[in-house]
This record gives sequence, structure tokens and C-alpha cells, in this order.
Amino acid sequence: MRINGQRLLDDLYALREITATPGQGVTRFSYTEEDRRVREYLARISREYGFCMETDAVGNMRISPPDSNAATIVGSHIDTVRNGGWLDGIYGVMSGMEMLRTFSDNGVHTDAVLMIYAEEEGSVFGSTMTGSKFLTGKYTAGDLNELKDEQETSLLEHLKNCGYWDEDDFAKAFPMDFTGVDTALELHIEQGPVMDSEGLQIGIVDTVFGMHVLEVEYAGLGNHAGASPMKGRRDPMSAFGEAVTAIERIALDAGNGVVATIGKAAVSPGGSNVIPDTVKFTVDIRSNSNENTEDAVCRIREAVSEIAKARSVACVIRDVADSSAIPFSREVIRSMTALAEENGLAYRVMDSGAVHDTAMLAPYTAAGMIFVPSIDGRSHVPEENTKEDDLICGAQFLLDYVAAAEEQRK
Ligand code: GLV
Ligand code: MN
Ligand code: MN
Repeated sequence: MRINGQRLLDDLYALREITATPGQGVTRFSYTEEDRRVREYLARISREYGFCMETDAVGNMRISPPDSNAATIVGSHIDTVRNGGWLDGIYGVMSGMEMLRTFSDNGVHTDAVLMIYAEEEGSVFGSTMTGSKFLTGKYTAGDLNELKDEQETSLLEHLKNCGYWDEDDFAKAFPMDFTGVDTALELHIEQGPVMDSEGLQIGIVDTVFGMHVLEVEYAGLGNHAGASPMKGRRDPMSAFGEAVTAIERIALDAGNGVVATIGKAAVSPGGSNVIPDTVKFTVDIRSNSNENTEDAVCRIREAVSEIAKARSVACVIRDVADSSAIPFSREVIRSMTALAEENGLAYRVMDSGAVHDTAMLAPYTAAGMIFVPSIDGRSHVPEENTKEDDLICGAQFLLDYVAAAEEQRK
């Protein structure tokens, strides 16, 4: 069975246009008009093919042929970061859709279901993998009000506005019952430089990095930029500057693959002639070892607090999100390796520095992920790209893997 590569590419090119920032990458936040338009696109194909489509109380979508028993979950996400790329998430979703269409076109039964996990990027609430965290019970009813966007609108309010919210459905559907689910799979772009630099076609993911996100607020004394002498200032911006280099140094010195990123900072009130009163920033710390990640988190907390103390600036540190490093199923990795060998594909087994919903499901079912290369290792930026042949190759590999696994289960 061959997928229709051109049909997949046509979908991806069409969906690339659904963005809140035309000409400046793809910005498609969850629970927005752009998000709704992608769902409508998926609904149109589902209607055409007679697939069943359901949306749960937090906005996860399931698309399946009517006779599927949903033993194989294939999924990814449709939301993006701000000014992100055109493939992160949606590539896995449309490849899953292409897989379902190919089974259907060939009259072959499948027990697969396509899952679109809601709010994976954390662009709205700051915490990644929201939909899969609800499915697996990491988030519970209390988090519906706890998770708030920058305007202080809660997740629950967003769900009500979109018409997804249903209290009874929520109580019934979460956490998800994984009985009867044999496998969870995700096809994704690598988002790093390894495969492109080694000329590989397929990446088989071993472990997904754990991640811990902190939010730090430095509060000092706002004042006049000209009339306040340098001595005696309590400037949170200066503390922030020191923190930025201290955090980078901690990750570099760790020497064990830990990465730390300050991707978001807000200065208040924000005037060129005003000493700020507060600076708020996030720190995203990751590695493939929980011990190493937590060690770096401790050092960063300590350093950030000491810098504040030395400058008489108040400091509040909040945990925004954390997830453990998760190894995928050894059996899935073995079978994917055998399939790549059989098909003569250039592959390697590798870790993922990006987090993914399928990792959340790994404790509950045999989970695995497939990567395709990212040109120059760019992702979460408008330049994110992958060669067409590689996109098609990854989607074909996904179909071949699912077809072989279902044949074996018979
Ligand atoms: C999601 O893409 C993440 O790794 O932050
Ligand atoms: Mn992604
Ligand atoms: Mn992403």
C-alpha cells in the first residue's frame, strides 16, 4: 500500500495558510479561529471518507473509520508557537489522516484512530501537552481553573467559549481508560540538526527529554531614569541580566546535555525613561535524565535567588510545568528498527529534546515516535522546513509500521 504523497503535501501547503500572522510563520493558538478552521478542514475530509469524529471536553479530537476498535492511536497536534513553523505537529496529524485515507482507499480494515491532542505547545497557558495531560490524569478538574492565559482567562472559560465543555463528558472521559489500546504512535519533524547533518531519512525515538519550566518574578523599585543615581537603585532589569548569563553558565557547566532557555520576558511598566518595577521571565530546563534536569533546576533556583538578594530585589519563583524524561517502548523501537532495515532506509535511534504528547501516553501503552529531518535543524521559527521526499518517506513509514503491526496482531 502506498500513501498519496502529493495529497499529503497539498494538505500541508493548504494548512500552512491558516495562520494569525501571514508572512511571519504559522501562529495558530488553541481555542482560536485559526484552530477552528483546521478542525473544519479535518472535519471535511472525515465527512468525505465517512470517518467518525469526536471532540472531548478539553478539545482533543478523535477521528476513526467507523469499524475501528481504536487499538492503535496515531496522533499529534495542530497548535503552534507564536511565529512558528508549518510542520510542527500538523505534519503528524495530516500523515495520520493520509494513513486512514490510504487504508480506506485500498479497502483495508484498520483499528487505528487519529488523535489530535489539544494545546500541545503551551502557547496559551504556558504549560505544554495540556490535552494529553488530561487524558492521562496528570491534570484534573482543578487545573481547568488553574490554567490561565495572559489575560487571566481560564482554560474552562476557553472550553465553554468554544462549545467543547460538558461536565458529564469530562467526568466520564478523564482520565482515559487505556484498556484495549495496544500502541500510541507519533510522526514528527526532528526539530534539531542531527538527522539533516547525517543525511538520515528516519529517526526512531528512544527517550523524550524531561522538562521543568520555572517562572521568575523580580520586583524592585520603579523610579525616574534620569533623576535616580546609579548607586542605591533596586533595578530588577539588572538582576535579570545577571540571571540570564548565570543560567546559561549553569547549563554549560553541567556538561551532561542539560539545556536551559529563557524564551519569554516581560518588563513592567516598560518605558525608556523608567527604571522597571518588575521583570518576569520563564526558564525552560531539559535533559534526558530526570536527575540532571532537577540538579540544574536546583542550581538555577539558588542562583536566581542569590542574585536578587545581592541587589535587594524581591524574587518569587513558580513552577509552571514539569514532565519526566520518558523512554519509549523497547519493543516498538525494535520493530521500527527492523522495518527501517527491511526497507533500506537511512535511520538512527535518537532522543528527542522536544516534548511530545505521545510520551505522556507511554506509561499506559506501548508508545513510539518517528522523526523526519528538519533542514538545518530549525524549528519553532518561520524557517522550519523538511524536504518533500522526507515528508513522504516518514508518512509511508508510519503507514507501513501500522499495517505490519496490525497484520501481526491478527
Ligand atoms: C514543544 O514543542 C516543546 O518541546 O516545547
Ligand atoms: Mn510538536
Ligand atoms: Mn512545538
